[in-house]
Amino acid sequence: MYDIKVTKATELRPKPDDESKLGFGKLFSDHMLLIDYDEGLGWHDARVVPFGNLSLHPASNVLHYSQEIFEGAKCYRTAKGFNLFRIRDNFERMNRSAERMGMAQIPVELCMESLFKLLEQDKEWTPHRESTSLYIRPTMIATEAVLGVSASKSYLYYVLLSPSGAYYASGLAPVGIYVEDQLVRAVRGGVGNAKTGGNYAASILAGAKAKHNGYAQVLWLDGVEQRYVEEVGSMNMMFVYENRKIVTPALNGSILPGITRDSVFKLAAGMGYDVEEKRVDINDVMADARSGKLTEAFGTGTAAVVSPVNKIAYQGEEVHIGDDGIGAVTQKLYDTLTGIQFGTVADPYGWITQL
Ligand code: COI
Repeated sequence: MYDIKVTKATELRPKPDDESKLGFGKLFSDHMLLIDYDEGLGWHDARVVPFGNLSLHPASNVLHYSQEIFEGAKCYRTAKGFNLFRIRDNFERMNRSAERMGMAQIPVELCMESLFKLLEQDKEWTPHRESTSLYIRPTMIATEAVLGVSASKSYLYYVLLSPSGAYYASGLAPVGIYVEDQLVRAVRGGVGNAKTGGNYAASILAGAKAKHNGYAQVLWLDGVEQRYVEEVGSMNMMFVYENRKIVTPALNGSILPGITRDSVFKLAAGMGYDVEEKRVDINDVMADARSGKLTEAFGTGTAAVVSPVNKIAYQGEEVHIGDDGIGAVTQKLYDTLTGIQFGTVADPYGWITQL
C-alpha cells in the first residue's frame, strides 16, 4: 500500500452535456495525479491534486532533450460500473520505454494504486455515449534543470484523464492511407519501440503531407530499405487475406508493441483465423490489393481501437481494398474487442479490471 495524498478540487467543473461533441483529448477531469522522483530518494509524494498547470524550470531536460515517455489506456463505462483493459500491460510497457530512454523505473503497483486513487475521484467523468471512454494518459518527464546531455536525476510522473470520443473524426468509417517513401518514423536500434514523444514529433510533417494529398494517415516503411511496412499513423497495421488470414508486421525494434495489436491478434487466433507476424513488403501489399487477394486492412491502437483502411497510395498509384466499406473480419474483431472492453462480451483472457 502506497501513501497517496488526495487534495480535492474545491470547485468541480460541469461535465460535458453533449457527448457527441467530445472529440479526442480536448477536455480534462477535475483532478490529476503527480508523483516525484529524485535520485537517492526514489519515488515520493504521490498525490491526487486539482487539475492545473505544471510549473517547470525552463532548463528541464524534457524541454531540451525530450526524455519523455507516455502511455494510453481507457476506462469504459459498463452496465455494472467501470472497466479498465490490460492496464498492467500499459505500466509494464512504460517501464520498458523508461529503460530505453534511460529514465527511472516506476513500480507497476504504484502506478496501479495511484491510478485507482485518481479514478476514485474522477471516474464519473467517464462518458456514457456508445464508443466513448475516459482516456488515461500516464506520462513521465525528466525534470532535472541542467543543459548537459545526460540522464536526468529527477522525474515527474503524472496522469491525466480525458473524456473522449472517437480518435478519428470519421469514427469507424474507412480511411485512405499514404505510404511515405522519403521520411522515416524510426530506425532499428533507435527508439521506435518505446512510447516516447519524439516518435510522434517525427511523424507530424509526413502526416501533414498525407492530409495535403487527401489521405487520413501515413503508412511508415522501415528506415533501412524503405520497403517493409512498419506502422500507420499512431497505430499498428493488419492485413486480411482472402477473408481468413491476418498478417501484421513482426516486431523488429522500430515498431511499437501495441497492446491493441496483441489483443486483436489473440482474438483473431481464438476465432480460428490464420495469423502471422512477418516482414510485409509494400510491393506485395500493392500487388495483393490489385489482384483482390488482400480483402481488408485496418489499423489498431488504444485511441483509434480498430480503424479500417480502404485505399493505399504508394508512388503515384492508389489501390482500393475490398469493397471500400468496413470488412466483415474488421467489424467482427472491432465488435469483440469493444464488447470485452465494455463488458458485453465475456473476457476469456482476463484482460479486464473492474473498478
Ligand atoms: C494511443 O493511445 O493509442 C496512442 O498511441 C496515442 C495516440 C493518441 C498518439
